[in-house]
Amino acid sequence: MAKHTITLIPGDGIGPEIVAATVRILEASGVDIEWETHIIGAQALEKFGTTIPDATIDSIKKNRVALKGPLTTPIGKGFTSVNVGLRKALDLYANVRPVKALPNIESRYPELDLVIVRENTEDLYAGLEHVVVPGVVESIKIITEKASTRIAEYAFQYSVANNRKKVTAIHKANIMKLSDGLFLECFYNVAKKYPNIEADDKIVDNACMQLVMRPEQFDVMVLENLYGDIVSDLCAGLIGGLGLAPGSNIGEQGAVFEAVHGSAPDIAGQGVANPTAILMSGIMMLRHLEENDAAARVEKAMMDVFIEGETRTKDLGGSAKTADFASAIIDKMKQ
Ligand code: NAI
Repeated sequence: MAKHTITLIPGDGIGPEIVAATVRILEASGVDIEWETHIIGAQALEKFGTTIPDATIDSIKKNRVALKGPLTTPIGKGFTSVNVGLRKALDLYANVRPVKALPNIESRYPELDLVIVRENTEDLYAGLEHVVVPGVVESIKIITEKASTRIAEYAFQYSVANNRKKVTAIHKANIMKLSDGLFLECFYNVAKKYPNIEADDKIVDNACMQLVMRPEQFDVMVLENLYGDIVSDLCAGLIGGLGLAPGSNIGEQGAVFEAVHGSAPDIAGQGVANPTAILMSGIMMLRHLEENDAAARVEKAMMDVFIEGETRTKDLGGSAKTADFASAIIDKMKQ
């Protein structure tokens, strides 16, 4: 069995708690993993004087795979987002976020199964803003043909590889005619190469309403960075909350697996966070490493724990601690 060396970033807030639980479960699956633990963000700033140390980037470039906990970004002041910096530094251009209802979890749409493909490198999300004169701020939205074409290609290739039938581009090209117009034009240019996959588009505000009313009409959605960020959380809410929404950031130089949610400071340090989202990101990581048997073992054990319904974290109405939930999954794998 091949040994995998993987960069591990525990992150901030609930990060270390959910990452520790996930590491225990992944190791119990029998996969041979050597973890290279690195810090980044506020912790790195304090220790090394920089939020993104070269050693962390070098480790991910060398290993080509990382599992990452959430990172805190100060609001309205302080350092710029380390997540954005990391995605840019490694050109992790595709943010893939499956949204699939889990068994026996109360949610509005128990059959839901869609995938968000979010452009990860540009848009307003790049945080390019400055004060023009006091009281007037300019925030720059960059959309390029290159990045828009690349993410559309990714969405269609993903659809082919995963037997998906339709890709929907989400935009606001009625208002932002040039920028979102370019994104949409690139999407339809790429779509021509994939005649077996249906291609359509929706304006983002209507798409949000449609997601709440009739989400089953969506299959794969491709979005610019900011719309992708917001719509991801909306979709997490459709299937039972942020504790259940996994993700991956993919580029030519590597892949970073992380949950959709953030560092949840309101529950950090209590050992009550739901590790499912990052665990599912870990399962995506195992599949990326072609450890398909181990991925299936972990997934089945996790599903069994959900179906049984006895061990649930607080966000799902239970009283199990993060570590209890991990132990229940590990016990299932041993059965
Ligand atoms: P958040 O996602 O951290 O929390 C939103 C709500 O969901 C909170 O009530 C929280 O308790 C709950 N929640 C999130 N994950 C959960 C889990 N695994 N189990 C149970 N409940 C969970 O969003 P918020 O509060 O807006 O952001 C907090 C910090 O996280 C900010 O600094 C933000 O910048 C950062 N962030 C980092 C991300 C990343 O590293 N990829 C992504 C999103 C936010």
